[in-house]
Amino acid sequence: MHKILVIDDEAGIQELCQRVLIQEGHAVKTASSGEEGLEILAKEGFDLVLSDLRMPGIDGIKLLKKIKETNPETEVIIVTGQATIETAIEALKGGAFDYILKPFNISELISASKKCLDYAKLKRQENVFRETTYLYQLAQEALKTKSEKALLEFILTRMVKSLNADAGSVFIVIPGQCRLVPMAVYGDFSKDKESEMKVGEKIAGWVADKRTPLLIQDGLESFEQFKKLISRPEIVSAVVSPIVNQGMLLGVVCLNRFKYQTNYVFTDHDLESVQVFVFHTALIITAMRNQLAAIELDNLKTEFLANVSHELRTPLMAISGAMELLMVFAKALIDNEKGRMFLDMISRNIERMRYLVNDLLDFSRMETGIIKVLREPFDICQVIRETAQDLVVRAGEKQITVQCDNSSGEKMDIMADRERIKQVLINLIINSIKFTANGGVVRVGCYAKNGSDVEFYVKDNGIGIPEDKFDKIFEKFYQVDGSVSRVQQGFGLGLAIVKAIIDAHGGKITVESEINKGSSFTVKLPGSFLGK
Ligand SMILES: Nc1ncnc2c1ncn2[C@@H]1O[C@H](COP(=O)(O)OP(=O)(O)O)[C@@H](O)[C@H]1O
Ligand SMILES: [Mg+2]
Repeated sequence: MHKILVIDDEAGIQELCQRVLIQEGHAVKTASSGEEGLEILAKEGFDLVLSDLRMPGIDGIKLLKKIKETNPETEVIIVTGQATIETAIEALKGGAFDYILKPFNISELISASKKCLDYAKLKRQENVFRETTYLYQLAQEALKTKSEKALLEFILTRMVKSLNADAGSVFIVIPGQCRLVPMAVYGDFSKDKESEMKVGEKIAGWVADKRTPLLIQDGLESFEQFKKLISRPEIVSAVVSPIVNQGMLLGVVCLNRFKYQTNYVFTDHDLESVQVFVFHTALIITAMRNQLAAIELDNLKTEFLANVSHELRTPLMAISGAMELLMVFAKALIDNEKGRMFLDMISRNIERMRYLVNDLLDFSRMETGIIKVLREPFDICQVIRETAQDLVVRAGEKQITVQCDNSSGEKMDIMADRERIKQVLINLIINSIKFTANGGVVRVGCYAKNGSDVEFYVKDNGIGIPEDKFDKIFEKFYQVDGSVSRVQQGFGLGLAIVKAIIDAHGGKITVESEINKGSSFTVKLPGSFLGK
């Protein structure tokens, strides 16, 4: 249903138009002169005015000018008897949507008004669409940098401009408290500084409490619930809407038009547009809050991890040092087989725990800053042999052989961070040991490629990795078997650390694997080859 005002000094035309348009489902009022028409328009908004061109008093062209000043969203169709091209063009230039020639038949009237109303609707939708697209882009931007206040100020400005308001404000609910606090203010609100209020108090408070939008078109008198409030005489019209997301009240938006400025009232369509805005605003605020909460949590986790690993490392190092010293003569002193077995068990498990704690520590370092690569020339063949040797005991527990594919005297100098590359090898070999059944074989080796690149690999004949998890395993915390009951220990951080180290070297790590056949990890370090 649309609101239409028919202005014509001929009673017959008034009645005809009224009858036809009411039958079309519209609400129709009539006026017999331009002056009367303007009086009605000052009190309520219309979607369309059908106006005669020649009338005693204000004529159609002057009337059109006035309407475009005070009610720019109202469309005007001029009805004219003398079809001179000039007057028609003048009307169109003055902002009329169209003109109808007298005498007209009913279908002409219906189609002209329908076309006009459809167009107006499209224009409104387009306007809202354009604005919300803008909001969407903003939201993405805002999620990266801006504060909630800056975001709300921006949205409010868009809303005020798009709806031709003179002033506006956004109140935000303080979580856990029934208070509304002004977060963004636009335009002339200084007269009574928008101040904090309780939910339920004043107009914004009422809207917040009832979660119902409000369209004020002619003062507060018509609202029973605001009888006690002092009406602000300068406000000609207002739209007040709650901002709600998934049943949670986030705040309230108020838009005002002043008598001494725009001086025309908001319509139902304006209220609808505000609803679209508010809907998007609610989504953006929620997304922003969620994001902030996630960042905070993430920072907290990183901090926690750094603390935990550091705290664990200190006593562990003390135990490990004492154990090393003790081992030397304890083994000689204890000639009991069982006793020695227990000592071995203790030292093996200290070693294990050291790798775990180091993983944690490396990971928290990786999270807090970029990994620094200190390049130096070293022999990678030797590092591979050394690492394999370090893990012999660990592999021996499962009767796994760690075999180096390069011949025993082979040498290959490369330029890379020695400690980091060793860390990569340790992580990959320990993984292979963990995910290979007793008696399996792990092979490690390296070779030069294209004269300047170096590649090294760790292969096993273990349980394998499903193909759809090849990317996933390099993500932090990811484990193919993530269940609590899994056999292998670990935090799911090793490969994330490995990948970060290789990335920092400008290298690449790839995996090939087949279930129950084995896995093969290959690391490529471009341009690192120095010579044999
Ligand atoms: N050699 C391998 N064979 C089979 N699965 C592996 C192998 N290496 C890694 N994976 C899989 O990738 C996951 C992630 O490895 P990683 O990041 O080192 O974490 P963690 O070893 O602590 O579980 C492992 O939990 C495992 O599911
Ligand atoms: Mg691991």
